[in-house]
Amino acid sequence: MNPDALPFSQSCENNKDFILEVLCQAFADRRAVLEIASGTGQHACHFAANMPWLQWQPTELPGNLPVLQPRCAAYTGNNLLPPLALDVRADPWPVAVPDALFSANSLHIMSFPAVEQCFAALARQAGADTLLAIYGPFNYGGQYTSPSNARFDQWLAQQHPQSAIRDFDAVNTLAGRAGFSLQADHEMPANNRLLLWRKV
Ligand SMILES: C[S@@+](CC[C@H](N)C(=O)[O-])C[C@H]1O[C@@H](n2cnc3c(N)ncnc32)[C@H](O)[C@@H]1O
Repeated sequence: MNPDALPFSQSCENNKDFILEVLCQAFADRRAVLEIASGTGQHACHFAANMPWLQWQPTELPGNLPVLQPRCAAYTGNNLLPPLALDVRADPWPVAVPDALFSANSLHIMSFPAVEQCFAALARQAGADTLLAIYGPFNYGGQYTSPSNARFDQWLAQQHPQSAIRDFDAVNTLAGRAGFSLQADHEMPANNRLLLWRKV
């Protein structure tokens, strides 16, 4: 496929190098990454190309795999696996959980019950020492971190009633119940965060 015709997200282009800077250090001793909700595959291809020591496994909802597959098929390196179908609500997940996971801009799109099911799956299937990196907008103490996030949340509610910016404490509580301990909370451009947990 013509590279200019591949599915494209401008926000991925804007945030990928800022995320890469954090992941390069966080994932320096990791071997493989399972990415949840890979979207267009821009993150998967960029991170696989720039962290060649990692084997990167992109995944998406079954119905959204046709969006993900073309860019992954055009990747020329050897450390990006073919995309797999993964709905985080599945029990069990049909994929092995390696020593690291990454997901961007997904927890505010899926319903909160799906977020709960995601962490329940990680409680069952992630091994000790697994690192989990989640990028996106979060609220703190029930408050938006910026007027633009408040506007974005209103827009989300109009698009999909189940979507909403999640509260950091609610997600951190789910992570704790799943056996994960918060390692870092990075402030990122455009009022986003990059949260890192380690399974203990
Ligand atoms: C805003 S997009 C983010 C895509 C990409 N990670 C990015 O940063 O551009 C949200 C993604 O979440 C995925 N998603 C929604 N519900 C999901 C679920 N239950 N399991 C897995 N992925 C889900 C959607 O298919 C969509 O690709």
